[in-house]
This record gives sequence, structure tokens and C-alpha cells, in this order.
Amino acid sequence: MAERVTIFVDGRPIAAERGATVAAAMLSAGIRAFRHSVSGEPRAPLCGMGICFECRVTIGGEPHRRGCQTLCQDGLEVSTT
Ligand code: FES
Repeated sequence: MAERVTIFVDGRPIAAERGATVAAAMLSAGIRAFRHSVSGEPRAPLCGMGICFECRVTIGGEPHRRGCQTLCQDGLEVSTT
């Protein structure tokens, strides 16, 4: 059985399996807006394999990290703003 961890997305605790990607955990929690385009449209993961950069979020204070390429660790702080 996979170990459960908790990540925090905009301060909201989300349970995830250790080793799952941040993008997978966020989508599983019903989060559909990972960032907003310059015109203000919500954006979400498209490719899931590191190519499109639509899954960019701030992780641990570092902006423009790809959620689909970052694994969940307990206590990880994620921001969509
Ligand atoms: S979903 Fe395309 S780079 Fe992450």
C-alpha cells in the first residue's frame, strides 16, 4: 500500500500518494486551474510529460515548476498564483 502524504495547494491540504506527481494530486483533488494565461484564462495540464508547460505552478517558493514533473513530498507547498 502506497504511503500517503499531504501537500498544500494555496494553503489547502491535499492527500496524495508519495511518488505521485503534483499535477496528478491536484487534478485528483478537483483543481482545474493551475495558472492563468496573460489574457486571464485558466490553464491546466495538457501533455502530462513535461512538454507543454501548461502545468506550471510555484513549488516551495520557486515559480514556473512543472507540476507533472515534480513528485509529491509530505508538506510540499504549492501555489497557483
Ligand atoms: S502537463 Fe505538459 S509540461 Fe506538465
